[in-house]
Formats: sequence, C-alpha cells, structure tokens
Amino acid sequence: MELCEERPSDWHEVEALMDLCFAPGRTALSSYRLREDVEPVADLCLLLRQGGTLRAAIRYWPVRVGGRPALLLGPVAVHPTAQGEGLGGLLMRESLARARALGWQRVMLVGDAPYYSRFGFARLDGVEMPPPTNPDRVLGLELVPGAWVDVTGQVTRAPGIATAPPADPEPGPACTEIDPGEGSAKETPHGQA
Ligand SMILES: CC(C)(COP(=O)(O)OP(=O)(O)OC[C@H]1O[C@@H](n2cnc3c(N)ncnc32)[C@H](O)[C@@H]1OP(=O)(O)O)[C@@H](O)C(=O)NCCC(=O)NCCS
Repeated sequence: MELCEERPSDWHEVEALMDLCFAPGRTALSSYRLREDVEPVADLCLLLRQGGTLRAAIRYWPVRVGGRPALLLGPVAVHPTAQGEGLGGLLMRESLARARALGWQRVMLVGDAPYYSRFGFARLDGVEMPPPTNPDRVLGLELVPGAWVDVTGQVTRAPGIATAPPADPEPGPACTEIDPGEGSAKETPHGQA
C-alpha cells in the first residue's frame, strides 16, 4: 500500500472514486459551495494506492469561520471493496497529524458524528454552514487546545488563505510505503513502491 499526496493528474480518478462512494448529487451539498473556485490544501489531500489502484482518498479545503481560518475536511472516501479495513481511519489520522504539523489550529466537517467522534470530532455550536445543513452534522476538532473556543459564526469561502507550497518543486510528490496493519512507513519515490 502506498500513501501519496494527490497531484493535479489524480483529480479525475479521485472524482470517480467519490462518485462511486457517495449518493448522486453530492456536489449539490452546501459544503461544495465553500469549495468553489478555491484551491484545496494540497499537502493534506492524500491517496492510498494498492498496486497502483486507487483505494481511498481524502481532501481538505481552507474556509473561514466568523473570519478565522479553519480546515474543511472532506470528502473522504474508501472504495466499497476496501471499506471497514481501516483505510479511512488511516487517512484521517495521517492527514490530521500533517495538518497539526503544518500549523493549522482547527478542523471542521459535515458528517456522521458516530464515525468522526473516534478521531475527536464533536458538534460545533454556533458554527453556521450554508443552508441546508443539519447542525448536528457540523463537527469540529481542535488541533491546538482551545482553538474552537469563541470561534463562531458563518462558514465562508477562503480563496485568500495561503496554503503551504509543496516542499519539493519536482513534479510528483513522494509516496510513502505503508503497512496499514502496523503503520510502518518508508519513503519511496512516487510510483516505485
Ligand atoms: C466512511 C468511510 C470513509 C470510512 O472508511 P473505512 O475505511 O470504511 O472505515 P474504517 O475501516 O477506518 O473504520 C470502520 C469503522 O467505522 C464505522 N463506520 C463507517 N462508516 C460509518 C458511519 N457513516 N457512521 C458510523 N460509523 C461508521 C464502521 O462501522 C467501523 O466501525 P468499527 O471499527 O466499530 O467496526 C468509508 O466507509 C466510505 O467511504 N464510505 C462512503 C463515503 C462516506 O460516507 N464518506 C464519509 C462521509 S464525508
């Protein structure tokens, strides 16, 4: 299994995986309005490939909440034939660790609390997604203690929030060979593991 940063050339393959995993009309959801004409946070958009085949993907976008910067997690999707094997959890933990290391303070998402609570997400009171959104599904995680305290208001697009540039200017960021069962990792050039 390889853990890779998503590249622009992966875009359509990831979109196809999302289409497979979500109900038709997913892009009509209010969270997609926050992503329109905004670049995703490239360092945090990760893929899992097995023998070159895409098995799972996670993406993040920058948003503002009451004017303060935050990460909008999602979508995250695991191919139906690989669900329940821990790949979603692996992508969640790895991307959240990277977000913390990059200095992001707070993350939000719209999703099922019974799944995301295992990663520390809890309902955000006073954070208003564009309608229609069930407030019970608006969840947040502090990457820095207290990061969501007194951060309330409308969630808005953040086309101006700078996202960290790729550390390596060469095309094709490195993949990491991983053992999903043990979490061991070894750096390898993209596509060679
Ligand atoms: C949700 C999803 C990303 C989870 O990834 P995964 O690799 O299948 O999940 P993991 O193997 O890491 O974890 C499995 C656990 O999550 C639970 N789980 C999965 N989806 C869940 C949900 N929507 N609500 C509650 N629990 C859920 C499973 O019951 C299982 O629980 P257990 O550990 O107690 O047995 C994946 O199933 C998926 O792509 N689903 C379709 C798309 C989707 O719903 N995406 C998330 C919404 S943004």
